[in-house]
Amino acid sequence: MAESMVGLKRSHRCTEVSSADIGKKVTVMGWVAKRRNLGALIFVDLRDRSGILQILFDENIIGKEGFDKAYTLRNEFVIAVEGEVVKRSGAVNESLKTGDIEIAAKTLRILSESETPPFPIEENIQTKEDIRLKYRCLDLRRPDIQSNIIMRSKVATLTRAFLAKEGFLEIETPMLTKSTPEGARDYLVPSRIHPGKFYALPQSPQLFKQMLMCSGYDRYMQIARCFRDEDLRADRQPEFTQIDMELSFVDVDDVIDVNERLLAYLFKEVLDVDVQLPIQRMTWQEAMDRFGSDKPDLRFGMELQNVSDIVKDCGFGVFTGALENGGSVRGINAKGQGSMPRKKIDALVDFAKGYGAKGLAYIAIHEDGSYKSSFAKFMTEEQMDALVKAMDGEAGDLLLFAADRNKIVWNVLGALRVELAGQMGLLDKSDYKFLWVTEFPQFEWSDEEERYVAMHHPFTMPMDEDLDMLETNPGAVRAKAYDIVLNGTEIGGGSVRIHQADVQQRMFKALGLTDEVANEKFGFLLDAFKYGVPPHAGLAYGLDRLVMLMAKRDSIRDVIAFPKVKDASCLLTNAPDVVDAKQLDELSIKIEEEKTEE
Ligand code: AMO
Ligand code: AMP
Repeated sequence: MAESMVGLKRSHRCTEVSSADIGKKVTVMGWVAKRRNLGALIFVDLRDRSGILQILFDENIIGKEGFDKAYTLRNEFVIAVEGEVVKRSGAVNESLKTGDIEIAAKTLRILSESETPPFPIEENIQTKEDIRLKYRCLDLRRPDIQSNIIMRSKVATLTRAFLAKEGFLEIETPMLTKSTPEGARDYLVPSRIHPGKFYALPQSPQLFKQMLMCSGYDRYMQIARCFRDEDLRADRQPEFTQIDMELSFVDVDDVIDVNERLLAYLFKEVLDVDVQLPIQRMTWQEAMDRFGSDKPDLRFGMELQNVSDIVKDCGFGVFTGALENGGSVRGINAKGQGSMPRKKIDALVDFAKGYGAKGLAYIAIHEDGSYKSSFAKFMTEEQMDALVKAMDGEAGDLLLFAADRNKIVWNVLGALRVELAGQMGLLDKSDYKFLWVTEFPQFEWSDEEERYVAMHHPFTMPMDEDLDMLETNPGAVRAKAYDIVLNGTEIGGGSVRIHQADVQQRMFKALGLTDEVANEKFGFLLDAFKYGVPPHAGLAYGLDRLVMLMAKRDSIRDVIAFPKVKDASCLLTNAPDVVDAKQLDELSIKIEEEKTEE
């Protein structure tokens, strides 16, 4: 039986009541989180988005009818309570903001009843994520998820306020648009009015924000939804949100400056964490050499060592073979892991193979200084000693080596480094280590397409001193591109854009794009560039990733109200789903029967 709230008006959220209000009459409303009966007294934990407040039902205060009603309360009933704030009758609960008070109820109304929820509405439950996402409405009621969502809102609000003060205008760009150049697969929307034609949902507002610079808006920002049809992971969703920005008449340092201040502001306001400015910068080359990754986690060391020179004349074919093929041999030192059991080392080898390694060679240094190694038999004692020395190996250490093409060696050791750090408990989520990675290569060779592809996108400006190599040595050209990395996650990236028509043309050429194709794809931007284009640059954060790290979570699904799962479906709404034949007909779409799921 649901009652109306007519005549009652909520005066406080649960935790807005405090001991300063003792003696006052208040009206609170929320969900029953817990009910305890102690004979003549009933205690209820009332929950709303602010937290928990204890309600006391005492027959002598509320009367028999109200007391009997309180007796019927069950978890997740929605109730309204009017009563007096009193000092807690029992022991003070230190873990609650309202732990020293309670409300002595005079009126109780049951606004809505609830069935028994499929899982407890509590923090840190063990329920499978699939169940939680199917009942997301209830999951979103749980205090830990709720605080993530509230934090996300705060980050968005503060970002808008900060950037507005810095002269940014918030401008919306279209959702139904043309393909954008971020390199993932597009989500397409069929047009009814133009049979056989499709809109693409934006992978980012990239082209439009550059247009806005051409239009003179000078500084643009948007909290923009982006769509990319790519394989999902814990930090990737098919639709996600960017804090997107673009600035005119700026170079790399200007973009970095405003963004460092934005990050410092957000971390101070939201987490009370002081970000040391300026944030450290590292070139892409240095990041790869030292950490095997373009998004190094700086919370721990375990840096890569290039030992190619030391092993170049050894008798271990795996090492010398890789060197002869133009590759390298590099290692990492897992300090204190020398007594790792064989089984665990084998698991590391398998892990490495998952990242493309053909194997993983190791030296375990025993406490007495003797070695156990997978390749000692191919080495002289001097060679082993030299290798251990180069790795700074001490008693009790585990040295791991990969030999292959640089790209694979970096990939393998970069991933292994983070995996080991996790196993060794070196990843403290409340330690925030920021890093700018700069001077990315302009191009990446694509074996698949047999041509250079843009590492960032085709509008990224090469470094001034490398411009001359665009035609002669594209592989060596560095870009004015930068990523902002936090604890090993790329939270944002951007670049200075090309604003000179001739450089843009040379870029398309280097990418193997004919004028025709370039015009077809980006014609509207290239046209805009004919009528006065300011030098400009920008950056976009993944808001989901940023909030995930701020909230100390492992998955962006925990900071998105309604996320999708690994196969890009939504367990709550069952999207994507089949549609009526009539709808398909209107869109001039025919489904090939053998390609449907069922
Ligand atoms: P980029 O492609 O690097 O740059 O995207 C910017 C940031 O968006 C986040 N991100 C994602 N987050 C969740 N799920 C995804 N599938 C996903 N893909 C990307 C990352 C990334 O750093 N237009 C350029 C920016 C610019 O040059 O100004 C762009 O989109 O945190
Ligand atoms: P094998 O000679 O193939 O039995 O390998 C001897 C040791 O070298 C094993 O521990 C392998 O895991 C390791 N190994 C094989 N290939 C590589 C490689 N490319 N890099 C590093 N170690 C490797």
